[in-house]
Amino acid sequence: MRSSLLLASVVGLGLWGGIACTKTTSSGSSKASGTGAQLLSATEAAEARTNYVNYCGGCHGRDLETFVNRKWKHGESPEVLFKGIKHGYPEEGMPAFAATFTDQQITQLVSYIRGGITRQADAGAQETQGTVHRSEKLNFRLDTVATGLDVPWSMAFLPNSDMLITERSGTLYRLTQNRQLQKIDGAPEVLAQGQGGLLDVKLHPDFSKNNVLFLSYSAVKKEGGQTLSTTAIMRARLDGNSLREQKVIFEAQPYARTRHHYGSRLEFGPDGYLYFTMGDRGGTKVNPQNLGVHAGKTHRIKEDGSIPADNPFVGRADAMPSIYTFGNRNAQGMALNPATKELWLHEHGPKGGDEVNIVKKGHNYGWADVTYGIDYNGSKISDLKQKSGITDPIHVWVPSIAPSGMAFVTGDRYPGWKGSLLVGALSFKLLARLELNGDKVVREERLLQDVGRIRDVRMSPDGYVYIAVENPGIIYRLVPVK
Ligand code: HEC
Repeated sequence: MRSSLLLASVVGLGLWGGIACTKTTSSGSSKASGTGAQLLSATEAAEARTNYVNYCGGCHGRDLETFVNRKWKHGESPEVLFKGIKHGYPEEGMPAFAATFTDQQITQLVSYIRGGITRQADAGAQETQGTVHRSEKLNFRLDTVATGLDVPWSMAFLPNSDMLITERSGTLYRLTQNRQLQKIDGAPEVLAQGQGGLLDVKLHPDFSKNNVLFLSYSAVKKEGGQTLSTTAIMRARLDGNSLREQKVIFEAQPYARTRHHYGSRLEFGPDGYLYFTMGDRGGTKVNPQNLGVHAGKTHRIKEDGSIPADNPFVGRADAMPSIYTFGNRNAQGMALNPATKELWLHEHGPKGGDEVNIVKKGHNYGWADVTYGIDYNGSKISDLKQKSGITDPIHVWVPSIAPSGMAFVTGDRYPGWKGSLLVGALSFKLLARLELNGDKVVREERLLQDVGRIRDVRMSPDGYVYIAVENPGIIYRLVPVK
């Protein structure tokens, strides 16, 4: 190493002055730089930096922006870079610098670029590598997949590995594989106030054939001088970056003046029907136990919005036929348990009493007749935690973590986590890993207590866990490390 460096600088010195040496220069240069990124002395580095900033930075970025993580067109070997800078690629818009710099100066530029790229890549790797998160069963780091969002509410993975992201303020994004955010037109008009806005996105089970997807959102209506809203579901076909054939297939009744508890997670059941959660809209005492309104329930509909004939309350004059379960408060996480093929959800309790429940046809989950929590102001909501006829949760959080988003860990990328249920938390700002034994939660581990409010958690088809964090909105991928 030392002798080749010495050689390099001797060659460099020899070449520095003379025209006569120009020929040897280029062979000498490429030999010297052929070792990879030739190390530059402080003076050489300063000169290379000045030349780079004055002659290249305007087009390629002062800090080598266009070179870091570049897919090289012509190659990245020192020889190719040297030639490219010297002779340019005039037809591509890259000028030739043969008349501007000596070969030695070009060699320095090559080293400067290559060295800078490596340094930045190392720094990037260390930044994420530096924060290795330790869990009981495995260590992982966070790979930042998307930034520049505010409240990413939900993620869905397209068959081509692009991702759809809903931003609560109302935009549906496509995140391309090279991690660019693109806007998708045709999303519904939303009331982006309080907890409302553009909420969940779910692909049709046959998306790869029909490109159909579903969006849940806070629909808005003006009535008698008031702005009212409710949870609605739009079905649409994704065509490039546009939604087409939009159709509202569900609109919860009645609309309300409140701006919270929209629920809104969408999930397809093993029966092919669309299940979704509907929050109580703040109507604690009036909605969840009243089968005549949609609020405070889990619903089941067909993909076109029509009602399956065997829904539990079909044919009852006092009941909304889409209702599948009732006595729910505000569920912002739902996922199909791959081991049991049952839908699981979690819901926000009041002060204390967040729950994990298994979605069972016609069951009453008790809100607000029974609860493990108390009111936000400290007052009592119910004396009862359990009651006959009411399905007890399989897991309770007291105090509340404010759960949002959930995913069962599948595949082999996360040894030790397989089969665990991951749950994001808003107020407690963490990722809860629930270890399961059948329908029992046997252990809870709390992870990522330093990343912020976790709004959504998903498994990608290629077996990675993704989380969406809000304000600032960032999507991370959890990458296991040794
Ligand atoms: C007027 C703008 C401009 C300036 C100034 C400029 N370049 Fe370029 N350069 C380009 C364009 C355009 C390309 C073609 C590839 C692309 O589109 O990025 C290119 C390509 C290159 C490539 C090949 C990249 C590949 O993918 O193979 C290298 C290396 C390069 N430039 C280095 C330099 C250096 C070093 C300087 C300063 C001495 C410089 N360029 C100055 C515009 C410029």
